[in-house]
Parts: sequence; structure tokens; C-alpha cells
Amino acid sequence: MNVEECIKTRRSIRKYKDKSVDSEKINQILDSGKFAPSAGNLQNWKFIVVRKEEIITKLAEASFDQDWMIDAPVHIVIAAEPRKAERYYGARGERLYTIQNCAAAIQNMLLTAKDLGLGSCWVGAFDEEKVIRALNMPEDATPQAIITIGYADERPDMPSRIELEHQVYLDRWWGKGQGYKAKGYKSIAIQEGIDNTKKAIKRVAKRIKKK
Ligand SMILES: Cc1cc2nc3c(=O)[nH]c(=O)nc-3n(C[C@H](O)[C@H](O)[C@H](O)COP(=O)(O)O)c2cc1C
Repeated sequence: MNVEECIKTRRSIRKYKDKSVDSEKINQILDSGKFAPSAGNLQNWKFIVVRKEEIITKLAEASFDQDWMIDAPVHIVIAAEPRKAERYYGARGERLYTIQNCAAAIQNMLLTAKDLGLGSCWVGAFDEEKVIRALNMPEDATPQAIITIGYADERPDMPSRIELEHQVYLDRWWGKGQGYKAKGYKSIAIQEGIDNTKKAIKRVAKRIKKK
């Protein structure tokens, strides 16, 4: 599968088949996490593979009872070691790079799961303390995300995406340009205001012409 297809067809899967996932595939997913970029190549993460039903259930409970998680045969918890980044980069390392490093690893893993024919979902809504207790984590590690993995038992439609023309600026904030999808974003209210003003000007211009 090429990268574009993989990125565009990956979906968050919340319904899984009762079918186990072999360790080789999980290792490939972990390996792709390892190759993520990280600030100063610190790689200040740990990946905890969870297969025990009892712990998977605890993780679902910790995730504010997202019960669908229980049916995923594998969970991977991505935990950060913020102190390592703090030592090199201070507060920015601790608060920003640590999260970005882990997010890059998570996305690599989601895409690799897709490429291997597996479904996955990034779960971020959980009670950190409960996850820490369920996994017996040390104090200097913080859970960043849980990835559920298994064979998909659903084919969700793509949730809508905001058009690029509303997300891209050229050269400067609100910068418009040709050749890119940057049209310069205006809120719907502002656009309506502009359109109404243009119409009003046309009406006045017509009336003046008639006279
Ligand atoms: C930081 C983050 C936290 C998320 N947390 C949850 C979650 O707790 N539960 C869940 O079902 N999905 C969660 N998701 C998945 C999003 O709902 C999903 O990515 C989004 O709706 C777009 O759908 P797609 O992944 O199919 O493109 C999370 C995604 C991210 C990036």
C-alpha cells in the first residue's frame, strides 16, 4: 500500500473481530514507532504491549468506560519519559517535545497497523492515574495514549475533513495565493457580510445609473 492510500484510508476502528493478532505483526508496529523522529533523537518513550484480558479491561475502565476497547485483542500504551527531555531542553522539552515525540511514534504505529491489514484506534481520553496503576508504571513516566489493535469488524465512513483552503495560508497569516489551495480563510459570518455589502453596492450603483 502506498503512503497516500495508507494515510487516507486509515480509520479509527472501534469494533474488532474475535481473532488474535500474531506477535510478528505487533513487532512490526512497534518497530515503526521506534523509527519516528524525536527531538535530539531522544526517543524518550516506552511502548507497553498489553494482551492480558484482565489488564485490557482495566484500561477500558480507566478510559472512562469505553467498553468497545475490551474487544481489541491488543493494546499498546505509549508512555513518555518527560524528565529525559527536560534534562536536555528544559520546560520546552518536557512539555512540548515529549508529547510531539510520542505523537509521531503513535501515528507511525497507526499507519503500520493499517498497512498490515489491522484496525486501530488512538485513545487519549483516560484517567492517567488509573492507567499508571493498571500498568505499575514508575512516577517519572506518563501515559500519552493507548492504541487499540485488532482485526476490524466495521468499515467506518471517513469523518469529514475541513477543506485545505480553510487551513492553508501563503507566506503570511491570512495570506492568499495561486497555485496552492490557500484562499485565505474568512469565517462564514465575515464572508456573508462581504457578500451582502457587495450586493448593496451593486443595488445602489444600479439606482444611480437609472437616475
Ligand atoms: C489525541 C487523540 C485522542 C483521541 N482519543 C480518542 C478516544 O479517547 N476515544 C476514541 O474513540 N477515539 C479517540 N480518538 C480518535 C478520533 O476520534 C479520530 O481520530 C477522529 O474522529 C478522526 O477519525 P479517523 O481517525 O477515523 O480519521 C483520538 C484521537 C486523537 C488524535
